[in-house]
Amino acid sequence: ARDFVVPSRMNPNQFYALPQSPQTLKQLLMVAGYDRYFQIVRCFRDEDLRADRQPEFTQIDCEMAFVEQEDILEVFERWAKHMFRTVMDVEFTEPLRRMPWIEAMEKYGSDKPDLRFGMEFADLTDLAQGHGFSVFDDAEYVTGFAAPGCAAYTRKQIDALTEFVKRPQVGAKGLVWIRMEEGGVKSSVDKFYTPEEVRAMAERCGAKAGDMVFILCGKKFKALTQLCALRLEVAQQLGLRDPKKFAPLWVVDFPMFEWDDETQRFYAMHHPFTSPKPEDIQYLESDPGRVRANAYDFVCNGTEIGGGSIRIHDAKLQATIFKCLGFTPEKAQEQFGFLMNAFKFGAPPHGGLAFGFDRLCSLFGGSESIRDYIAFPKNNAGRDVMLDAPSQIDPAQLDELFLELRPVKENE
Ligand code: AMO
Repeated sequence: ARDFVVPSRMNPNQFYALPQSPQTLKQLLMVAGYDRYFQIVRCFRDEDLRADRQPEFTQIDCEMAFVEQEDILEVFERWAKHMFRTVMDVEFTEPLRRMPWIEAMEKYGSDKPDLRFGMEFADLTDLAQGHGFSVFDDAEYVTGFAAPGCAAYTRKQIDALTEFVKRPQVGAKGLVWIRMEEGGVKSSVDKFYTPEEVRAMAERCGAKAGDMVFILCGKKFKALTQLCALRLEVAQQLGLRDPKKFAPLWVVDFPMFEWDDETQRFYAMHHPFTSPKPEDIQYLESDPGRVRANAYDFVCNGTEIGGGSIRIHDAKLQATIFKCLGFTPEKAQEQFGFLMNAFKFGAPPHGGLAFGFDRLCSLFGGSESIRDYIAFPKNNAGRDVMLDAPSQIDPAQLDELFLELRPVKENE
């Protein structure tokens, strides 16, 4: 996401960058000695829009000093339970599950797993490889899940699901299936495996007679993400995504950095102020991909409703992180000097999180789209169709702002 920028009339050729979120400001408040902060706040993000994203949205934003991760999870777990009880009359008595990010990815192919139903993934790589089926042999990872009671799916239904995973939005090359019938197993790869070998794969997915197993392969996280799309599609068809049922959890232990193939560099997965897990600090320079963060998301029914982290409160560690992210010391100082300088005066350990107010409303209201809960939402193209914004402005206004327009080039 990028900042929205607004030109300043009083400061020629300078711009306000509207806050994506008041992240660094709430951190400054902690440094200044306020030990708790709570605000319902407008946020602006210039990012591609989806059903659960708007450029202008509302956060319930919080920060606390002298806390550790568990303090924050505990406080906001109570808050969330209160909200569910008061608004929805739904009672959660058990502590919420805390699922490490890697488990969420390997079992559900998503960092926001929908736990209203099972269909957990199993790693089938060892069982699938070495039997002469080159598609599996050449893949980094083979994974599958059992769709309950789907053994009777017709050829047509299987073909439709195969088309589904091959759509460009999902991107798989094909789909392998195993039918678990009372009398025995049948699969699309019977040529390469004995019935016992096929059964072993199905059983690892937890399949019972009457179930159908679906298997995908490829680069590990790509295959997992693709299988997630299929899991949600099958669940939708089976009517398992019941909007009246709620399955909240915390996803924890996110990776600190995310590698981007296109630009060949690491990016902060949450933001650059997130503190690494103390035991992983040793890998910051040698193996950044291995470093986990003290970051957490509140997830419900396959949507990220809230997220936050414990922050770095030490200027030296913050400088190391900026280095890992490819900032020169000058660039870091220019962009974040106000925060790093503040740390020099001694900052308390602090952390917080923000809940997406619009997402919370649509979760409670049983809608897939946050637009149903925003009075004048933007459409998919980021346009406000009522005000017809954005639109062109008067040449006189441009002049006042010291701005000149240039024509858009063809491939821009
Ligand atoms: P994050 O970016 O995870 O964290 O955002 C927190 C929550 O805000 C909601 N949200 C959105 N809702 C609608 N449209 C959007 N474009 C949009 N983007 C985010 C989500 C999300 O879980 N400063 C950190 C929080 C922190 O670390 O304290 C932050 O903004 O529900």
